[in-house]
Amino acid sequence: MLTTQTEATKLDLAGIRAQFPSLSQTVNGCPAIFLDGPGGTQVPQRVVDAISRYLSRDNANSGGNYETSRRTDRMLQEARHAMADFIGCDPDEVAFGMNMTSLTFAMSRAIGRELKAGDEIVLTCLDHDANFAPWKALEEDGVVIRVADINEADCTLDIADLASKINNRTKVVAVGVASNAVGTINDVAEITRLAHTVGALSYIDAVHYAPHGPIDVRAIDCDFLVCSSYKFFGPHMGILYGKREHLQRFTPYKVRPATNDSPQRWEVGTLNHECIAGITECVNYLADLGRGFDRSATSRRHAILLAMREIQLYERSLAEQLIAGLLAIPGLRFYGITDPSRFAHRCPTVAVRINDSDPGHTPAQLASRLNDRGIFTWDGNYYAINLTERLGAESSGGFLRIGLAHYNTTEEVGAFLQALRDVVS
Ligand SMILES: Cc1ncc(COP(=O)(O)O)c(C=O)c1O
Repeated sequence: MLTTQTEATKLDLAGIRAQFPSLSQTVNGCPAIFLDGPGGTQVPQRVVDAISRYLSRDNANSGGNYETSRRTDRMLQEARHAMADFIGCDPDEVAFGMNMTSLTFAMSRAIGRELKAGDEIVLTCLDHDANFAPWKALEEDGVVIRVADINEADCTLDIADLASKINNRTKVVAVGVASNAVGTINDVAEITRLAHTVGALSYIDAVHYAPHGPIDVRAIDCDFLVCSSYKFFGPHMGILYGKREHLQRFTPYKVRPATNDSPQRWEVGTLNHECIAGITECVNYLADLGRGFDRSATSRRHAILLAMREIQLYERSLAEQLIAGLLAIPGLRFYGITDPSRFAHRCPTVAVRINDSDPGHTPAQLASRLNDRGIFTWDGNYYAINLTERLGAESSGGFLRIGLAHYNTTEEVGAFLQALRDVVS
């Protein structure tokens, strides 16, 4: 696959791609094209090396009075600093967990133990079920769940509907920064402001958004934010941000001998240390990307922001190419924002269907036929099941999802569009 430096971006695409070993594979005799980033991105070699280095040199449990355990404690502290730089908080506001889903179940149970029957939680039908089901489970305790709708025409969140569902009984508003199905970006700072007007907590799911743009939890002013490093070029882990006072005040479900210090009290059991070593490295990868094209970066946080802003611009240009090409395919139905002037409100993640009446073109069949040509896409509901149901697509296979990351190229988008045209013609 040709990997030229694109005129429109400061990103050195060839240099970036050379760092990701998986990108040079061929599959079924074709260069592999990874359009499955929303399900999990590829990792640079330095992340693989950091994981392997930890296992081969520092492997130990934490909190012991011997060398490798002390190294492990230092490594955990470094990772907290790295994630704090990634999302714009302090290291003691970062907790690690198996994934976003398990962290959210843990936090929703901790918050839930303080709620009473009749208290309300506002959710949305745009969200991944991981920011829905854990809260909905609190219905067992009499908590009332209210679900904000979407504007069907462009799959944006209906903010007026969400605002109308927030009232003095609302205790939590849980919403995603971006939809993992249709790419819509929500104004989570405004939603947090709405939640705070009635004293409710905002719980923000940044899993889908994290590889696509800068995150600033202080600017959002959210109470909690969760993300998963396997979506931003790191290992399979979840990360929880909580305002310091919340992490100290709420009571986690935990074993008794484990520390009550925060944030460690939220980290249940022995963590996946090798992967946490990888998290520091994926954050450093992004920071080095930023430093690579702008030496003015004064700190790691600054360098990350430079990288994420450039990634955002580059991905927007790829999305324009992708979406214009998709809209030109006869019989294709597109779900989400299509107007390039509104691309600041979407990620480069798109959902489509082809000729609903044609039995050969279900999302699963399309994904499988694209795979024959070495192109990786996802099909189904990707756990955004409220959305596929709301849009009437659940019973017929959901959508075909194409997700771009900064390591994708215009040549790859072109090859994908050609393959899809061939497959459906
Ligand atoms: C938007 C969104 N939220 C939450 C999740 C769940 O994350 P995890 O796999 O870390 O539990 C995903 C996973 O795809 C996601 O896309």
